Amino acid sequence: MCGIVGYTGPQQAGKILLEGLHLLEYRGYDSAGIAVLKDDKLKVIKKEGKVARLEEQLKKEDSLGNCGIAHTRWATHGKPSDANAHPHTGCDSDFAVIHNGIIENYAELKARLQKNGHYFTSETDTEVIAHMVEEAYQGDLYVAVRSVAQQLVGAYAIAVVSIHEPDKIVAVRQETPLLIGLGNKEKILASDPSALVKYTKKYWRLENGEMAVITPESAEAFVIASGEKIDKKIQEIDWDIDEAQRSGFDHYMRKEIDEQPEVIENTLRGRFAKDGTISLPEFDDVAETLRQARKINIVACGTSYHAGLVGKYLLENLCSIPVEADIASEFRYRNPLMGDKDVVLVISQSGETADTLAAVRLAKQKGVPVIGIVNVVNSSIAAECDAVTYLHAGPEIGVASTKAYVSQLVLLMLMALYLAQLRNVEFDASEIVADIPKLSGYASELLQQEQKIIQVAELMKNKGNCFFIGRLLDYAVVLEGALKLKEISYIHAEAKAAGELKHGALALVEDGTPIVTAVTQDSIRDKMHSSIMEVKARGGSIILVTDKPEQAQDIADTLIPIPKVSSYLSPILSIIPLQLLSYHAAVLRGNNPDRPRNLAKSVTVE
Ligand code: AGP
Ligand code: GLU
Repeated sequence: MCGIVGYTGPQQAGKILLEGLHLLEYRGYDSAGIAVLKDDKLKVIKKEGKVARLEEQLKKEDSLGNCGIAHTRWATHGKPSDANAHPHTGCDSDFAVIHNGIIENYAELKARLQKNGHYFTSETDTEVIAHMVEEAYQGDLYVAVRSVAQQLVGAYAIAVVSIHEPDKIVAVRQETPLLIGLGNKEKILASDPSALVKYTKKYWRLENGEMAVITPESAEAFVIASGEKIDKKIQEIDWDIDEAQRSGFDHYMRKEIDEQPEVIENTLRGRFAKDGTISLPEFDDVAETLRQARKINIVACGTSYHAGLVGKYLLENLCSIPVEADIASEFRYRNPLMGDKDVVLVISQSGETADTLAAVRLAKQKGVPVIGIVNVVNSSIAAECDAVTYLHAGPEIGVASTKAYVSQLVLLMLMALYLAQLRNVEFDASEIVADIPKLSGYASELLQQEQKIIQVAELMKNKGNCFFIGRLLDYAVVLEGALKLKEISYIHAEAKAAGELKHGALALVEDGTPIVTAVTQDSIRDKMHSSIMEVKARGGSIILVTDKPEQAQDIADTLIPIPKVSSYLSPILSIIPLQLLSYHAAVLRGNNPDRPRNLAKSVTVE
């Protein structure tokens, strides 16, 4: 996830590009940079940090040409730094490239380029593109970029400029969004409409496998594979700038729920092969430690802790390794007994949560290796782990975590498969391996149930309290569902292990109390139905999320079906209706889901 902008036309490119970066900064803010063509030279200025730092640097420049590209980065390969900031050039400064996404085969491409004498100045995957264009160029930028695009594997939205064709920008799209704004005698390209709308509301959306060549006077689109020219349909932006940054949604949280199908794909990309092979090279240095580990201690806070509970279940059941799961603020003070061959696994979206960071430091003081699952590259927690794997979920702006949670569950599943392979644990993973590629599509399907969820939210919006009940993995899910509802709608929601209700909390159930429940685990499906009947008999109104609706017709007051997948994968899907429920309950109660009272996106204090 990052922000890409390009401009070619009669106006000052620098001003327009910088403006675009500010509008796209929510998409990534590790570093920012600009490349403009001026006096037949490429001027590249790039800085670690937010766009404002780049802006300071640009103030020292006089004119900044009429054609250029700019990028605000969300790092995936290589820490945030000046050198790793985009744009990237080749060995000479004849070409500049910006890129959103991941080049999965960059290592082999880089090795080949280095063998051909190319030297690299960054740690990024992106830089290989600049050297490849430099190598391929024989007088036609479109031909060179097309040839390079056909060699790339992964997700990429790319823009390229060159001193040899100084008013032209060539753009390529595969998986990550890229729009071509069709201004009068000027063209502007960007990752989303917010950077276009001031200059034009007419645009092309490049589809996967398409590329475009733009100059002030022209715009052409082509199929990368065949070179066939495309007669693209012109679309109109009907949003204002503010809405455009949320891609037309009312809140970032709703937009991020909608991104989840794409985030699932991005989390899997380069790590999961359809034959079940898992690739987590970031753990190569700790592989032996993980192979010999006697216990794993999962430590996190809030939603990340709820993901950790799912992780505990997966690792114990699939890898036969004992796992403890701790809330970080408890772990750091309870004097945890950890010894030889213990491993700590921390989970954090922000990578800055103070309690989780303290847990990392405590583990290291005790000589226990720490691995991390983090979203923000080079964050404090990531930097202090012995090994870290990144979600690739893109920036999560809404305070209530949604896409990061789903991405954590996907990555925990991959880690379980990885550890099972590493530790030679035999189990039949065929159903899991078959279902993983379906998750993204199923997540998209679940988003279509929104109208039904809104009706449920209508029923719940005036309730003072409700229960979320489940067992095993479903219990971990309803803990997260209850937190979502509490933190943005302010309705008190208590999650209980379904078997525990009768030990006290059942006393609180009265006529009409909403009981939200998830039932996806075959091993205890009948037990769950009994628990539900217990609470229904006392007046509870049952809202049931299940992968077998046909078995629950007579016990649910509201049935929310989800697609059937391996029970180990079902939390990735069953949480989606609960996210939508919390979002719409909050909106119906007049709250701003993005900025819930008393809360912060990253809790960097104790
Ligand atoms: C979840 O919706 C909340 N925003 C909160 O519980 C959050 O998950 C918790 O603060 C942990 O944050 P982290 O994942 O960035 O460490
Ligand atoms: N993978 C590239 C990098 O790490 C691009 C990341 C992005 O989309 O910003 O620089």
